Amino acid sequence: MAGTGIQYPDHFITRLQAIWGRGFLSPGGPEEVKRIVQGLGLTGKALLDIGFGTGGPGAVLAGLGAQVTGTDIEAQLLPHAQATRAASPHADQITLILTKPGPLPFDDNSFDVVFSKDSLIHVPDKGAMFDEILRVLKPSGIFAASDWLMGAGDGPAQVMADFNARGYLDFRMATADQTKHLLTSCGFHDVTTLDRNAWYADLAAREVKKVEEDLYDDLAAIVGEEIMREWLSVRRHLAEAARLGGLCPTHLRAIKPASGL
Ligand SMILES: C[S@@+](CC[C@H](N)C(=O)[O-])C[C@H]1O[C@@H](n2cnc3c(N)ncnc32)[C@H](O)[C@@H]1O
Repeated sequence: MAGTGIQYPDHFITRLQAIWGRGFLSPGGPEEVKRIVQGLGLTGKALLDIGFGTGGPGAVLAGLGAQVTGTDIEAQLLPHAQATRAASPHADQITLILTKPGPLPFDDNSFDVVFSKDSLIHVPDKGAMFDEILRVLKPSGIFAASDWLMGAGDGPAQVMADFNARGYLDFRMATADQTKHLLTSCGFHDVTTLDRNAWYADLAAREVKKVEEDLYDDLAAIVGEEIMREWLSVRRHLAEAARLGGLCPTHLRAIKPASGL
């Protein structure tokens, strides 16, 4: 899919939601979203969700009381996210906006929280994105996200580099140290990361089994045998990259300085 401009065509959405649940294009479901924002107290907070996907994370965050503005860059995702929004009892707290890659279309100091779930992996210039996140956060606002990072050290980094070189997906991955350095350099403080590799290594192996044993035939009937064969091979490769420490879904937290500091 890399190179076509569209990363998430409908047949990919169908496959990802089959393993991760309706509304989710990343692993962990509502529980993982809640872990990312644990302790923040979102009631009434203005929250930006970068990369709304098919809308599941935004609906969870609205359920926690946030006023959610979601952005995404792929137009074919919007009807899926709108359907998730319509099914939510908190639909009136969710606004979905299609954007272009690059500067965020919001005024300075607009949000109490900027959230993102496994979307920044697709952003080539992380420094420019972090500058924008800092700009749109209010003073003392919080960046709370998850992203797919690359393991540190020659072995894990090489495993992930080998996966990415196959060109299955347009992944632009950084290590946790690189990410911390970028966030700190652009002005955030109290930058922390939480490596979720152990959790996802186990889950990714179970996802492969689920595709092999439970989902393969039904999905092949919808998306075709050729797509399924290729995808199963990618999923095995991804699970192996997680097992070897190359793929590290990681929670990120950082705080914008208070005004005047
Ligand atoms: C792995 S999916 C995750 C979607 C959703 N956050 C979730 O967890 O279910 C990555 C998402 O990031 C979006 N995306 C990629 N680059 C983006 C950008 N520059 N701004 C906003 N969204 C972006 C993709 O279109 C896709 O919906």
